[in-house]
Amino acid sequence: MTALETALAATAAEVNRTLDALMPAMTGPEARVREAMAYGSLNGGKRLRPFLVVTSADLFGVPRSRAMRVAIALEYVHCYSLVHDDLPAMDDDDLRRGKPTTHIQFDEATAILAGDGLLTLAFEVLAEPETHDVAQVRTELVLSLARAAGMEGMVGGQMFDLQAEALRTGSLDLDAITRLQSMKTGALFRFACESGAILGQAPDSARKALRDYARDMGLAFQIADDLLDAEGTEEQVGKKVGKDAAAGKATFVSILGTDGARRKAREISDRAVKHLDSFGKKGDLLAQVARFVVDRRT
Ligand code: IPE
Ligand code: IPE
Ligand code: MG
Ligand code: MG
Ligand code: MG
Repeated sequence: MTALETALAATAAEVNRTLDALMPAMTGPEARVREAMAYGSLNGGKRLRPFLVVTSADLFGVPRSRAMRVAIALEYVHCYSLVHDDLPAMDDDDLRRGKPTTHIQFDEATAILAGDGLLTLAFEVLAEPETHDVAQVRTELVLSLARAAGMEGMVGGQMFDLQAEALRTGSLDLDAITRLQSMKTGALFRFACESGAILGQAPDSARKALRDYARDMGLAFQIADDLLDAEGTEEQVGKKVGKDAAAGKATFVSILGTDGARRKAREISDRAVKHLDSFGKKGDLLAQVARFVVDRRT
């Protein structure tokens, strides 16, 4: 295993434990929503966003217990987005992370509520005093995650994606697709990296460098997601593949072809690494992440 793979695996194990630990225990008939929330979030996944939070926070010496809470809040939001993305009204997928999707395992209403529950719990975790002793820092985290997840971020990107699908391939150019991806996938990645700087009350220059890194890395990540949809197998990727082409979706792959999209992803990932220059050796793990997201097989 590479140093990055070892670090990713160690963080994923801690993330899995903490995702469950920060979810209040429940009894009574309503416990079904907790069960579905646990199912939709403890079902594997690379845990890349949490890794970016703790790795960015490490640049500024932020205590792990604080960074981990922010990492968990973000992963709750990501998992909620996947539970809802897979619903019949959206992508109508029955496989996620190699397992039946939450609405298949439970039912649609429960999956909707589980997503709502995860989204709300994320902000509860951020707002609690254990996340940071300075209330202003907690407020900034809440504001920043709200913006990343909401109508100008992930939710807006999901709407854009659905609208683009209705317009069919060819009607979006690369600039429009870049904007779509930047909202749909990029916004949460930008929060992941920037939150380390918020927690560490880092200077604006460091915060900007992380934001620029995340912008490019997130785009490279999403191009790789589109490549996996075009070239991967269901077994390897853990979700249905070939869906973008079947839906006539405009992606980097539909416009540039698989080789062109891979070249583009590498180029963007190299650009991401350059934004880390000011961190010197301390930025090494993040640089490895930028390369990993392009070459990943899941
Ligand atoms: C999948 O994200 C959804 C996209 C934004 C493309 P990931 O590929 O990070 O999914 P998990 O968390 O590892 O399952
Ligand atoms: C969804 O994008 C990203 C989210 C914000 C949930 P996709 O629909 O391409 O994600 P996958 O391929 O189902 O993971
Ligand atoms: Mg989708
Ligand atoms: Mg989908
Ligand atoms: Mg996809």
